[in-house]
Amino acid sequence: MALTAALTVLALSGLAYAAPFEHGVQPHNFGQDRQPLDNAAAKPAPFCFPSLGFIMPAVLPSDNTNWWCDPTTEYAFVGFSYEVTACQSRAQLHKEFADIRTHFQSRYVRLYGACDREGFYDDIVDAAWANSLGVHALIWFGFNGDDVWIGRRDTLLAALHSNPKAKFVTRVLQFGSEPLFDNVLPHDQLAEQVLLAKQNLSSLHIPVTVSELAYGYQERGGAQDVLDAIDSINIHMLPFFSQDASTSDQAWPLVEGDLQWFIDHGNGKKMYFDENGWPSVTSPSVQPNSPDAVADIPNEHGYYVLLDQHCEDLKAVEGGGIGWFAHIYSDDQEPGYGIYNSKGVMKFPFAPRTHC
Ligand SMILES: *[C@@H]1O[C@H](CO)[C@@H](O)[C@H](O)[C@H]1NC(C)=O
Repeated sequence: MALTAALTVLALSGLAYAAPFEHGVQPHNFGQDRQPLDNAAAKPAPFCFPSLGFIMPAVLPSDNTNWWCDPTTEYAFVGFSYEVTACQSRAQLHKEFADIRTHFQSRYVRLYGACDREGFYDDIVDAAWANSLGVHALIWFGFNGDDVWIGRRDTLLAALHSNPKAKFVTRVLQFGSEPLFDNVLPHDQLAEQVLLAKQNLSSLHIPVTVSELAYGYQERGGAQDVLDAIDSINIHMLPFFSQDASTSDQAWPLVEGDLQWFIDHGNGKKMYFDENGWPSVTSPSVQPNSPDAVADIPNEHGYYVLLDQHCEDLKAVEGGGIGWFAHIYSDDQEPGYGIYNSKGVMKFPFAPRTHC
């Protein structure tokens, strides 16, 4: 987030904000080779996982084909980013995932950060299964530009294979956060990693993506090889850092600008705003690039109100509409971005639309 704060400005300043959305939904144009997110035979909600109202089976199905909801039907608020750097206990994961599902009508959690405790992903799977939540899993690169991610990749891939429930709750595997923006890997090597992970997970039908800013792609010449390799586009939408930021109720053109870039270059793939929010306070790592940018609780709240107001616009975006995550569950996970403060109290009313 620190680097994001400093440089996202460049991402948001160079784009044409006025570009209209393209409305044609193209559920069968997912680009490239294998198309694991394209599930024409999917059952409708509430008979597909993890739709609201879905009843979990008593025993594991024989496989995960016809298990997931068709991603082209998934849009609006889908859940929270949830940082795991605290290495939450299994009990805490169960308790908070239950809250995420039942209190907020979430369908997914998007993992953020890393916990290197042995068996941690098994705890995530257990809590997700128990609470009917899908997971956007994450290979965490951190901010140091080192190679720790390689061990994490291997551990996570192994867990996805060894835990029989993992393929029923893991919707997508992300490389993140912001590996292009942070310049962890040249884009061609990142694209290669995505392809290798897809190959590794192909028998499990788990797709692979990269969690990244528009600017992360743009500053690497567009990194079309990465965009072509990923199965869905997991977008970091953080308009507070724009040079043109003011209050969150004015942020729609900033959102539209970055989104339009992905519409223009994403080949109709499913898109999520997976790291998406507005801070209530600044901190050393969260500094605006506009003198007019306001960080307070009403503006944090206001950003989600804005997304709700544009529910129909976001639904009309190709790929089946934008599914968005709120970044982040608690201030304990990232100061100022939490829906809960660090005392566990909600900072503002939060009941975003899950359909429109
Ligand atoms: C996937 O990667 C993991 C970790 O490197 C490895 O243990 C496993 O054998 C691989 N599986 C396949 C099918 O490639």
